[in-house]
Amino acid sequence: MNTAEPLLSVRDLRIAFDTARGRVVAVDGVSFDVAAGETLGIVGESGCGKSVTALSILRLAGRGARILSGSIHLGGRDLLKLSDRDIRDVRGGEVGMVFQEPMTSLNPVFTVGDQIAEPLMRHRDLSRRAALDRAAELLDTVGIPMARARLGSYPHEMSGGMRQRVMIAMALSCQPKLLIADEPTTALDVTVQAQILELLAGLQQEFSTAVMLITHDLGLVAEFAQRAVVMYAGRIVEQADVATLFRQPLHPYAEGLLASIPPMDEDVERLRAIEGTVPSPHAMPDGCRFAPRCPQAQAECVAVDPPLIPFPGDHGAACIAHTGYRVPAPGAVTQLPAGARP
Ligand SMILES: Nc1ncnc2c1ncn2[C@@H]1O[C@H](COP(=O)(O)OP(=O)(O)OP(=O)(O)O)[C@@H](O)[C@H]1O
Ligand SMILES: [Mg+2]
Repeated sequence: MNTAEPLLSVRDLRIAFDTARGRVVAVDGVSFDVAAGETLGIVGESGCGKSVTALSILRLAGRGARILSGSIHLGGRDLLKLSDRDIRDVRGGEVGMVFQEPMTSLNPVFTVGDQIAEPLMRHRDLSRRAALDRAAELLDTVGIPMARARLGSYPHEMSGGMRQRVMIAMALSCQPKLLIADEPTTALDVTVQAQILELLAGLQQEFSTAVMLITHDLGLVAEFAQRAVVMYAGRIVEQADVATLFRQPLHPYAEGLLASIPPMDEDVERLRAIEGTVPSPHAMPDGCRFAPRCPQAQAECVAVDPPLIPFPGDHGAACIAHTGYRVPAPGAVTQLPAGARP
């Protein structure tokens, strides 16, 4: 178990959106830590709240987003309590971010040189000239040929893979302690995907950056992350170190995700996807949110909403079948299984 103070510590985060159909809670009581230098994988199907969780760390979840509760501590400061000005300093400074589609995050009217130089001028007080020199070095580091000549290119003049490299150069320019990578390679073809992730892993070592790797792809988690959290319908349903998660998943949802990874040597036809779909936040089931899709659901599951119960070794799951959690009788003191921490 890691006893050192985590770099990032998210506790009981609840985020809602006010929509025309009423308030929806997109992230509902999420807690996790990221240790300095480690890679934490965040997995789950579309709509589970991965991006909203990640974006809210930098207060980028959008104007409609309401933080209902929780704290997000980075290096001792609660980011939720920072002023708008201070959170802008954290963005691109202590925390870098890489998104799926670089065209939406790169500004089409500025050269890539200026875009990489900008955070260096803002956060590191470099002159424009020094910042452009550093930008050229960074482009070289991320594997862009003829880096200096490329400083004057515009994003649309580059391929998708090159643009993603530019995003990584920008995100890492100020040597952030934490890099949030939200589906960083989903838009790229498989070969480029592997190159980009190898690059990220190499730079992470070089700069000792912690990475939050958000992905649908458990294969990427197996390869690049040390620990993982599995999200379902706005909650974390399982967390474990990656080897444990793959060897002994506890939550039927995590089992289902693992079962749907195509084996290298078998027909993709045999892929077992999880039946059904993620519930809409407008209509969350009572009890366990996965129960309507769960092949192991018992009668109790539609009534009991099990908390994430950590097991020794930092493995935890939110499932009554595995944690022994039962709904407490009215007025009773909740009994947690031996070894569990509340
Ligand atoms: N601006 C918004 N207004 C209303 N609802 C939103 C908004 N942004 C996100 N949501 C809702 O919050 C939930 C979580 O969305 P989120 O984008 O975090 O999912 P995700 O896990 O990142 O999915 P994907 O894998 O598709 O990226 C979804 O139900 C989504 O519809
Ligand atoms: Mg997302």
